Amino acid sequence: MNKSKYKCIINCMNALTVKNLSFGYNEEIILDDVSFAIKEGTYVSLLGHNGSGKSTLAKLFIGLLPANSGQIFVSDLELNKDNVTKIRNNATIVFQNPDNQFIGVTVEDDIAFSLENRNVPRKEMRALIIESARKVGMESFLTKEPAYLSGGQKQRVAIADALVINPQILILDEATSMLDPKGKKEILDLIREMKKENPSLTVISITHDVEEAYLSDEVIILDKGKIAAQGKPDDIFTDKELVSKYELAVPFIISLKDKLISLGMDVSKEDTLESLGEKICQLK
Ligand SMILES: Nc1ncnc2c1ncn2[C@@H]1O[C@H](COP(=O)(O)OP(=O)(O)OP(=O)(O)O)[C@@H](O)[C@H]1O
Ligand SMILES: [Mg+2]
Repeated sequence: MNKSKYKCIINCMNALTVKNLSFGYNEEIILDDVSFAIKEGTYVSLLGHNGSGKSTLAKLFIGLLPANSGQIFVSDLELNKDNVTKIRNNATIVFQNPDNQFIGVTVEDDIAFSLENRNVPRKEMRALIIESARKVGMESFLTKEPAYLSGGQKQRVAIADALVINPQILILDEATSMLDPKGKKEILDLIREMKKENPSLTVISITHDVEEAYLSDEVIILDKGKIAAQGKPDDIFTDKELVSKYELAVPFIISLKDKLISLGMDVSKEDTLESLGEKICQLK
């Protein structure tokens, strides 16, 4: 890979830069010479079939697994033994299975642990804990034991654990998969709201939900440990070759546009569900 190209990418304020990263748990290669960059302030969806290496990649991002080869830069810091704590103070991950994340005896202790790790003064903690629990609708569960919460409630607490440190990079590994549709929408709205308040917040959401991915700034497709594609959702999901080769599910609006085009309707990239509705009404 051309080194000068990466230098430019780093100087252009990337939140994350991955260079020639390879990793295997044993002999088997799970990530194979992966390179890509994510600009600061972007909401990226990372898609890929089960076992394609998404969670593994996320763990490598913050040094929870050691790479076999390659480099990772978080902002302008290279991930290594000296920088890993600093990086984890700015980049946080909500795991696919929240049970693996809980440390505290109560929800409050658990959220507090995120802050203790980051040396937040004790007298400032309580207000921050209540605020983050409130954001995810768990303020009345602060004295409960995380192990005895429902799957969706656990995910909410895991998200509060992450939000309380006000990260610059938020990595969500299927973090809303157990939430009911209303709860999922609330959390995604909350994250969009946080991005509005802090435009440099970068979100990397590992998801199987193509409707969520469609609303992202960018989509990355991981296939068998390699980057298959990276681009704007509209470009990725309308690329028929890509969709067929990687057996991608397609967002509803793209399928609808395809259908309408096949019926002879004049449809453009800019059309929204509302404008398509109006066009359909005018046909009658
Ligand atoms: N701790 C581990 N030890 C050995 N192999 C593992 C371990 N964790 C994951 N793997 C293997 O690595 C591969 C990638 O797993 P990973 O969890 O990264 O996939 P994923 O893309 O996140 O999948 P999913 O969509 O199911 O969450 C899989 O083949 C999996 O079996
Ligand atoms: Mg996974």
